[in-house]
Amino acid sequence: MNIVQVSAELAPWSKTGGLGDVCGALPRALVQRGHRVVTVSPRYKAYDGAWDTGVRARVHLFGYTHEVAYYHLERDGVHHLFVDHPSYRRPGIYGDDNGVYGDNLFRFALLCRAALEAPLRVPIDGAVLGEDVLFHANDWHTGLLPVFLEANYRSVGRYPTSPAVLAIHNAGHHGAFDAHEFAGLDVSTRWWNACDMGGRLNCLKAGVVLAAKLVTVSPTYARQLCIDHGHGLEGLFSHRARDLWGILNGIGEEWNPATDKHLETNFTADDLSGKHAAKAALQREVGLPVRPDVPLFGLVSRLDHQKGIELVMGAAPWLLRQDVQFVMLGSGGAAYEDFVRRLAREFPSRARGIVGFSEPLAHRIEAGADAFLMPSRFEPCGLNQLYSMRYGTVPIVHATGGLADTVPTWEPGNGTGTGWAFRDFSVDAFIQALAFALQTFREHPEAWRRIQDNGMRRDFGWHRAAELYEALYVAAYGR
Ligand code: ADP
Ligand code: GLC
Repeated sequence: MNIVQVSAELAPWSKTGGLGDVCGALPRALVQRGHRVVTVSPRYKAYDGAWDTGVRARVHLFGYTHEVAYYHLERDGVHHLFVDHPSYRRPGIYGDDNGVYGDNLFRFALLCRAALEAPLRVPIDGAVLGEDVLFHANDWHTGLLPVFLEANYRSVGRYPTSPAVLAIHNAGHHGAFDAHEFAGLDVSTRWWNACDMGGRLNCLKAGVVLAAKLVTVSPTYARQLCIDHGHGLEGLFSHRARDLWGILNGIGEEWNPATDKHLETNFTADDLSGKHAAKAALQREVGLPVRPDVPLFGLVSRLDHQKGIELVMGAAPWLLRQDVQFVMLGSGGAAYEDFVRRLAREFPSRARGIVGFSEPLAHRIEAGADAFLMPSRFEPCGLNQLYSMRYGTVPIVHATGGLADTVPTWEPGNGTGTGWAFRDFSVDAFIQALAFALQTFREHPEAWRRIQDNGMRRDFGWHRAAELYEALYVAAYGR
């Protein structure tokens, strides 16, 4: 199959969260299954090794004709196309210190249009892909791709068999804009109904209506989208439930404790000495007392309403009265960032809070912590709990979405489980899970070792997900 994956983020070149990681990793796994995969994402800045193909496309949007250029880089068999346009070359992906960019609808509509032109114009291995490709769009940023596919191409006989699949990584963001912006998309008004939600132009909804198949990143979140986590689109998701698949994300090879280049000491499930060294190194790096015996809790997160930081705020005074250490890394909402800084000031010998985005430190927290906190309010899949398990770091999570699907609670009776998943979204339930974890760490080291081992031996490779995506694409062609 020829697969064109379109996304606003693509790790390692652009990333604010798991969307980037997934869009970077899935294509590699699909290539290993024999598919040709081309990614299309914005060229936010110059990327080493990505060369101007010389190919240009002109598209009409918001009353003007805009020219985009395509830069190309091949890595691990995947062809990456970076769309160049002045509106992408800014400090942030979606916004900066002054807020979200006012022209995001234009920027991402342009991405969709550029992606739809790419197979017709850009030579890949010496020839253009042509009109038989599968488009795999991701989240609201590319929700309009199925609209443009129908309106600008299919209606005039182009791409006659090419389906579009929409992957929903987070239904909390719709990309909703004033209705009058619709005129700027330069498509016939017969497509307004698909885009209209409550009188506004809604990019995610348009994609959900028009994509041949829908996929989200865990089976539980696929069900929740239809019931109570669809952010107003529950009815539509239920209507399309048969086309909505739930496929758990995998994790990429850059998150492997045996080879992680951000660590001074690597380790495996058979020998955790490198993990013990990573804990000491983390304690030194953030300036906490170097003590192997103290339980070290870690948190790496976008500081967003989704992530349940309120529960961390509620439980932290209780947690930090104990003999524990807590290292937080995150950025996002101002009130959450204040909390992260304040906690470190209030508990100088126990807590450290780093406000910012640091890939190396995220790896070192995953490696050095004993336990990882992820009390998300909702979580489509979640990657950090997967990284944690792979690094022998015991996740303590709210049982929602992908967290419920991937973290079975420790059962001392039969020795199963990889962490703790609490059911009620409440500070009390969170504290209870933390208390179980603390007690197990302190009083039952052999059980703790078993929990670590259970997690480290799980297989979260991308190959299984890739097989399911392949089946999804086949189903999309059949529709
Ligand atoms: P989401 O995509 O909702 O943010 P995921 O758990 O799927 O949640 O993925 C988050 C990804 O972003 C992980 O790779 C995580 O390590 C990374 N991440 C989040 N915040 C930071 C940060 N402040 N610094 C470095 N990496 C971060
Ligand atoms: C989203 C979700 C997260 C998921 C990630 C990758 O950002 O919030 O749960 O793991 O996308 O699919």
